[in-house]
Amino acid sequence: MANVLITGANRGIGLELVKLYADRGDTVLACCRNPSEASALEKVSGAVEVLEVQVSDGASVAALARTLAGRPVDILINNAGTMGPAPERQNVQSMDFEGWAETFEVNTLAPVRVMQALMPNLKASGDPRLVTITSQMGALSLDMPVAYAYCSSKAALNKFMKMAALELGREGINVCVIHPGWVQTDMGGPNADITPRESAEGIVRTIDGLNADNNGSFWTWKGEVHGW
Ligand SMILES: NC(=O)c1ccc[n+]([C@@H]2O[C@H](COP(=O)([O-])OP(=O)(O)OC[C@H]3O[C@@H](n4cnc5c(N)ncnc54)[C@H](OP(=O)(O)O)[C@@H]3O)[C@@H](O)[C@H]2O)c1
Repeated sequence: MANVLITGANRGIGLELVKLYADRGDTVLACCRNPSEASALEKVSGAVEVLEVQVSDGASVAALARTLAGRPVDILINNAGTMGPAPERQNVQSMDFEGWAETFEVNTLAPVRVMQALMPNLKASGDPRLVTITSQMGALSLDMPVAYAYCSSKAALNKFMKMAALELGREGINVCVIHPGWVQTDMGGPNADITPRESAEGIVRTIDGLNADNNGSFWTWKGEVHGW
């Protein structure tokens, strides 16, 4: 059984990932910024520990690492994310620069903060995997000029994780980024293609297949290779 740490675990795709891993008997370290408001998370049965962390706050991430000191983390899933400013405030003509910076804090810097703080926990695992939920919108190969703050934050994230895979792979830590599909969550909206359950099931299967041979992959939730 694995220890699986998930950020943004209180709703959306993160919550479904918690349910799936808990269902199969793994221990889930379910991280969210407001545990007192995480009522859906409290209802999940199984070995679920709800932990507080504000992923964009270095002190909060360090406190999480202290809480987890000495415990292996087999799968770290950086899932928390934000769309950033309203669409009319993140385009080629008009940019909310403060909002863009916040978007980078949450989508780009936070996964790295969490990864670095929990590196001892990953290294304590026999089969450590570092997974980050990205978006197809971060792919340089996708020509869709919308949500410039969000897209650029995921593109930078992808580049970091692609490089990190080269170094961490040598230490036995396998790394991937996964596009979860267009998903019916608060972020994706009700008209999106797939349910959070469908997305999370695909993500779990895809993570199961992560190993040294495919370290450094960019996949869709179906486990298909995605262009960078
Ligand atoms: N839904 C889609 O169609 C879609 C498509 C491509 C990629 N993604 C990616 O999939 C991941 C999960 O998205 P989702 O659809 O499940 O989104 P969601 O339903 O909007 O949930 C977002 C999660 O991230 C957390 N979060 C947001 N801003 C945060 C911040 N500033 N600090 C800490 N936590 C924060 C939220 O916590 P609070 O509840 O505390 O706000 C929540 O747990 C994200 O990385 C997103 O970019 C989603």
